[in-house]
Amino acid sequence: MRIAIAGGTGRIGRLTSAVLESAGHQTVPFGRAAGIDAYAGRGLDDALRGADALIDVTNTPASDKAEIVDFFGTVTSNLLAAEERAGVRHHVLLSIVGIDHNKRAPHYAGKREQERLVESGPVPWSIVRATQFHDFAAMVASWSLRDGTATIAPLLVQPIAQEDVAAALAEVATAPPLNDLLDIAGPETQDLVDMARRTFAVRGEDVKLVPTWRGAFGTDMAGEALLPGENAWLGPTTFDAWLAAGAPDGR
Ligand SMILES: NC(=O)c1ccc[n+]([C@@H]2O[C@H](COP(=O)([O-])OP(=O)(O)OC[C@H]3O[C@@H](n4cnc5c(N)ncnc54)[C@H](OP(=O)(O)O)[C@@H]3O)[C@@H](O)[C@H]2O)c1
Repeated sequence: MRIAIAGGTGRIGRLTSAVLESAGHQTVPFGRAAGIDAYAGRGLDDALRGADALIDVTNTPASDKAEIVDFFGTVTSNLLAAEERAGVRHHVLLSIVGIDHNKRAPHYAGKREQERLVESGPVPWSIVRATQFHDFAAMVASWSLRDGTATIAPLLVQPIAQEDVAAALAEVATAPPLNDLLDIAGPETQDLVDMARRTFAVRGEDVKLVPTWRGAFGTDMAGEALLPGENAWLGPTTFDAWLAAGAPDGR
């Protein structure tokens, strides 16, 4: 198959392209650095020509809610329109487990907008909702890190390796559209504070952690809000295996 990957030059995109290519498929990974801008709509018709499916793993570093919703909404609309023009018959979106529970998180508002447009759009679709990646705890702590101290919510998560996310996306993109959501997760649950503590220890960083629900994540994310549904696809790679590999963030 020929599969276009929007955001194919990023962390998940590069891994997904490698999985597909090693299985004998042809990929067209693209981003702005490759001269193709899905926000501006530039270069999409060339990138999608002859593609059987498109995987969207784009991302934005923005932190403002309106800016994030505008980015994901515009990119998704432009991709779907270009797929319709090119006759691409499967749109695969990487989303996040639990985004319905947290109405405050700006990134989640953007992901909900993506999902809404994909589900109501003109192209047969699959939405793959992943749990947090293994470097998520350290990333969340870094948002508030000042003078060696960071706050972090004691979230219950079931983190997944980026390599396993790529394997799941490749599997879904090469099968018929689900026209449904699929949750994917890692093999075991973890406490986010403990994950952050162990990640910083492996990286040799001295960070004091203050558990709180009054930071980026509130009590609406407590309990099982971030856990995958019962029929989730589970990747094999444990958080411990990632730590043993030196806790790389994939960048
Ligand atoms: N972190 C987590 O725990 C987690 C969990 C579940 C799901 N996710 C989702 O995973 C997805 C991928 O994340 P990632 O870490 O792989 O992202 P990343 O490494 O930041 O890569 C983002 C990609 O998007 C491309 N991009 C940005 N703006 C673009 C534009 N206007 N047109 C075309 N391409 C554009 C970038 O290339 P250029 O810069 O060259 O344009 C890059 O290839 C995100 O959507 C995120 O929501 C993350």
